[in-house]
Amino acid sequence: MITQHGLGYDMALVLKNCKTFYRGKIRCVDIASDYGKIIGIGKRISGTEVINCKGLLVFPGLIDVHVHFRVPGAEHKEDWKHGSRAALHGGITCVLDMPNNNPQILDEKSLLEKKKIVEKDACVDYGLYLGASAKINSLGEGLSKQIAGIKLYMSSASGELLATGKIQKMAFERAFRMRKVVAVHAEDEDRIRDNEKKFKDKGISIHHKIRDDTCEAIAIEKVLSSAKSTSAFLHVCHISSKMSLEKIKPFLKSGKVSCGVTPHHLFLTEKDVAKIGNKAKVNPSIKTKKDRSALWAALKASYIKVIESDHAPHTLEEKNADYEIAPSGLPGVETLLPLMLNAYNKGFISLKRIFECCCQNPAKIFGIKNKGSIDFGKDADFCIVNLKRKQEIKSEGLFSKCGWSAFEGWKLTGCVEKTILRGVLCYDSGSIVDSKKGLDVFGGD
Ligand code: NCD
Ligand code: ZN
Ligand code: ZN
Repeated sequence: MITQHGLGYDMALVLKNCKTFYRGKIRCVDIASDYGKIIGIGKRISGTEVINCKGLLVFPGLIDVHVHFRVPGAEHKEDWKHGSRAALHGGITCVLDMPNNNPQILDEKSLLEKKKIVEKDACVDYGLYLGASAKINSLGEGLSKQIAGIKLYMSSASGELLATGKIQKMAFERAFRMRKVVAVHAEDEDRIRDNEKKFKDKGISIHHKIRDDTCEAIAIEKVLSSAKSTSAFLHVCHISSKMSLEKIKPFLKSGKVSCGVTPHHLFLTEKDVAKIGNKAKVNPSIKTKKDRSALWAALKASYIKVIESDHAPHTLEEKNADYEIAPSGLPGVETLLPLMLNAYNKGFISLKRIFECCCQNPAKIFGIKNKGSIDFGKDADFCIVNLKRKQEIKSEGLFSKCGWSAFEGWKLTGCVEKTILRGVLCYDSGSIVDSKKGLDVFGGD
């Protein structure tokens, strides 16, 4: 047995016979942890609490860099009690939460007030984004220790968060000084307005024409140039089109640009949206088969580095309104991994790519030091999956407060069996069995 300390006592928790990702390969090992950290990886390790993982695959707890848990201000859609349990259901032990709250998170005061509420209810670890606004330059330097990154909206998610060219530039300069990532929602506001004038009969089936591929590509081009001039790290969220991928590709080599994709953009097309209706109204819009194929190809070729849920729940009542009134966004934190495991079973993606895009790369890009891989001293966060078990997505089985999924009725092969946060088994076979207080991974020190 290899342990960091070479200790001869029973470890607190041992996962036996794990097929897992260890130092670049899938290997079969036992993993021991104590005090919430991994302290032993090897063979024949004994423990006080033993979980036999024979026949199962163990991921490090997944990191979802893009969720909207809606606190403060929209607790009727989601809250951290529900959202973080939904994350555990999906094998996710760390989430980065977006700042489009009410009040919006644009300064220290709103950030710390949000944190006070979040820390009471979070049962996964977390980080909180700061929204880019005109205030960004007046904020204290200490803020960098409190935030996951800076979120920049290039289309109107909500009033103050729409960043003008000047704010964009300030945000990138600031992010560079703070060594933080700028995460961008890239859709061009002017193009959306122009397209809206063009299409008289509005309805869900033209959502992808109003927010078309050019709309995303224009915004990406602008933001790439701001990022380049300041050398800040740019993460383009939820990329949705072939055209945008082509704009980004030449910049990826710099190592200062990444992009993420959501399951809804990988698994649906505009034709599905027309059938599903407003539940699949989301921004950026879900585009065509050609775009979806380009996203899969880019994911396989490692041009896309992150799979993020953009878990953005709204109530069914809100979604049942007319197209123009219904809000954009759909829940996804608990269906992300099952959908990806099903894709693996169909031969669309390797397990290694899922591990890289859901664990390793998010940790690297956002600087989450203790998570994202299975190694000595890392947090004992695990997601144990059964690759063969079949399941159907049913709203009754979901933990999110909104209580619905755009993937309702999908029959999938591959299932999260257990989720462990810092050494504590929190989710097991359909139930939350224990909970640990979630911690801010950026911590403040
Ligand atoms: C998000 C939301 O509802 O907060 N909506 C969405 O369609 N993705 C906002 C966003 O990420 O753009
Ligand atoms: Zn967005
Ligand atoms: Zn979002």
